Amino acid sequence: MKIAPSMLSADFANLLDDIKEIEALGVEYLHIDLMDGMFVPNISFGPMVFEALRPHTDLVFDCHLMIQEPERYVEQVADAGADIITVHVEATDHIHRVMQQIKDLGKKAGIVLNPGTPLSAIESVLNLADLVLVMSVNPGFGGQTFIPESLDRIRQLDQWRKERGYHYEIEVDGGVNAETGPQCLDAGADVLVAGSYIFGHKNRKEAIESLRGE
Ligand code: DX5
Ligand code: ZN
Repeated sequence: MKIAPSMLSADFANLLDDIKEIEALGVEYLHIDLMDGMFVPNISFGPMVFEALRPHTDLVFDCHLMIQEPERYVEQVADAGADIITVHVEATDHIHRVMQQIKDLGKKAGIVLNPGTPLSAIESVLNLADLVLVMSVNPGFGGQTFIPESLDRIRQLDQWRKERGYHYEIEVDGGVNAETGPQCLDAGADVLVAGSYIFGHKNRKEAIESLRGE
């Protein structure tokens, strides 16, 4: 399993310190939430911010684009140092083309869907996906409560992967903590995103260990 702390809950006045700390604790990915104020009712930061961090860390940059028409920005996000670029199926009319665009840029292509979007909306592009991100809250903000029905979606994606030979990782985002994280892993998830749980914990090492079930 892999852990992807969400930078959204880090201290923006001491971003590099927070990132160095979690990197030293052995996490695998840094989850980077890009929000445009249109697709979601919040604005976070743009590629310039993680581009500045890129030379200072070896963490995998796992970029979650909450951006309307993400095709407009994938090249810029790739150039800024993303390793994985994940786009919302609801945000574009051309999901297949965007995923191909990401792969042509030499990056891993992820697909993500909101809690209200049926899994059938992504079924036809699962063969292209290196990662499927299951939103377990409505995107836009950290610190929300995990939606339990997400577990069935993880199970279904895991079953399809086994039955059909797909290679994607299953990642879960929103409300992940010591209780919900292990439930997601049991259901078949590979990567846990956690923002407020890790960065808001008084002992981040303990928080990460608890997600790993240690
Ligand atoms: C929400 C973001 C998440 C967020 C998760 O729109 O996609 O990555 O940072 O925050 P927590 O872990 O606090 O629910
Ligand atoms: Zn996210």
